[in-house]
Formats: sequence, structure tokens, C-alpha cells
Amino acid sequence: MKTIRSIAALQEEIREARRRGESVGFVPTMGYFHEGHLSLMRRARRENGLVVVSLFVNSLQFGPNEDFAKYPRDLDRDAQMAEGTGVDLLFHPEAAEMYPEGFQTTVTVGELTEGLCGASRPGHFQGVATVVLKLFHIVQPDRAYFGEKDAQQLRVIRRMARDLNLGLAVVGCPIVREPDGLALSSRNIFLAPAERQAALVLYRTLQRAGELLAAGERDSTALRRELFTVLDGEPLAELDYLAIVDSDTLQPRQPLAGTILVALAVRIGKTRLIDNLTFAIT
Ligand code: PAJ
Repeated sequence: MKTIRSIAALQEEIREARRRGESVGFVPTMGYFHEGHLSLMRRARRENGLVVVSLFVNSLQFGPNEDFAKYPRDLDRDAQMAEGTGVDLLFHPEAAEMYPEGFQTTVTVGELTEGLCGASRPGHFQGVATVVLKLFHIVQPDRAYFGEKDAQQLRVIRRMARDLNLGLAVVGCPIVREPDGLALSSRNIFLAPAERQAALVLYRTLQRAGELLAAGERDSTALRRELFTVLDGEPLAELDYLAIVDSDTLQPRQPLAGTILVALAVRIGKTRLIDNLTFAIT
């Protein structure tokens, strides 16, 4: 595996792979890898001749009071883990390589970015869409891999790829969890032991949603009320949002029908965690 810091050097490597007739799979990340990231890399490895991973903590998608400075970083560890999954190129640009002096162009995806995480993190998806579009142009992959963990992000990227005719496949990959159900996240290391225990409330809430839907609940308001009681049972958890929405449009549905996304964001101490599950209602 090669670790590459400049766009020009990365593009030269990709050009050579193209000359050899290889397809290009791409996994954008902000690093501090865990099994969730590695699952995307392994899938990309299976499906492509060349696998490119970007590692860039993108300042543009963090709000002024968010954890950009504190976001965990460990390049040596990440490089080892990526190499172990068979990644060919690890692209790790400096901020100035991505956002040179004078940078002033951004990408805005519409309605899909207004609710859920977009409501509590203004500008977040503009930052995500902008960096991902830049990376897509730099790498020009055949396939790009994103986790369902960030369900809204995946839908925003899919929409952008369609709306702007990007001509690549956006591949969604399942959420990787700890044995007790906690979704893997680079931010989990911030959780003190009691907080780590409290964080299970996210998955517990989603499982309860599944039970109620399986038992025939179709009233979104009643479902929400029941899920609030699960969340209220965890004193260390402060709810940011609980969304019960159509999985494609991210708009509310009443009564519940089709494929429903139940997604939530919860603050445990200083750490904001997200999780979700989709349910097909028959
Ligand atoms: P990051 O949080 O590093 O996540 C990189 C990719 O890993 C995303 O597609 C995310 O959904 C996926 N991922 C994270 N945890 C996962 C889990 N437990 N199971 C499966 N996949 C998981 O998402 C970003 O970075 C950034 O917003 C980025 C797209 C790189 C743009 O800066």
C-alpha cells in the first residue's frame, strides 16, 4: 500500500491502474479506523482492481462548536489497518491540498439535508457533499462505498450522484456493531465506562421500534411515544432527534408504510452518537 499526500501523485497512480484496465473502488473516510471502515474496504477490495481510501478530517463539515480539533487521529495505526485489508492507495492530503487559499465553492443538496442530522448540524451536509464531490472528481471511481451507519449521508450522496450525473455507483454497506449492539464509531473512544453502557440505549430504542412494528404498530405518533419511554429510561442520554421517516425521502409517513427508517442522535456526556435501522412494512 502507498500513502499519498498530493492530488497529482494520486492521480498518476490511478491513471496507471486505468491503463492496466483496472476498475477503481473508493472509500472516503475521516480515519481512526474500526471494523465499520474495514468492512467497506474489504467490499471494495472484492469488487475492484484498485482500491483507494481517503483519510481526511474535513473541517468543512464540522460546526464551530463541534469536535474537529478533538476528532481522533492516528495515521500509523490507520495505515496498518488499511494495508491489512488490501487497500492499494491511502490518500491523506493536507488541508491546504483540499482547500487552498481562496476556496469558495460548495455543493448544497436540498430537502434531504434539512431534517435529522441536518437540522442540528447546519452546514454539515454541505461540507460533506463538497468534500465528497471533490474526492469523486479527483479519484473518478467506478464504485464508492458508504456505510448505512450514516443513513442520511448515504442518501445525500446518492442524490448528489444522480442529480449531477456523476456516473459512478454509490454502494451502501450494512452497519457493523459491537456484540452488544453498539454501532462502531470513531467517537466511541470518548465514552467513559458508564457512558459506554448508557450508549446501548440507541440500539435498544431501535430494537423496540422493530418489536412494535412487528407487532403491527402503524401509528407513527404512538410509536414515537413508546420509543421516548425507552430513551427516558437512560438518564445519561440526552436526545438530539428521533426520526421515523420514509427511508427514501426522509419525510414523515402516517400511517407507517413502505420502508421506514428509524434514526436517532443522542448525546451521552460530550459525545454525540447516531444509529438507525430500516424496516420493511408489509
Ligand atoms: P467517517 O465517519 O470516517 O466514515 C467513513 C465511512 O465509514 C462512512 O461511509 C460511514 O458511514 C462508514 N461507517 C462508519 N461507521 C460504520 C459502521 N459502524 N458500520 C458501517 N459503516 C460505518 O462519514 C465520514 O467519515 C465523512 O462524512 C466522509 C464521507 C468521509 C466525508 O468527509
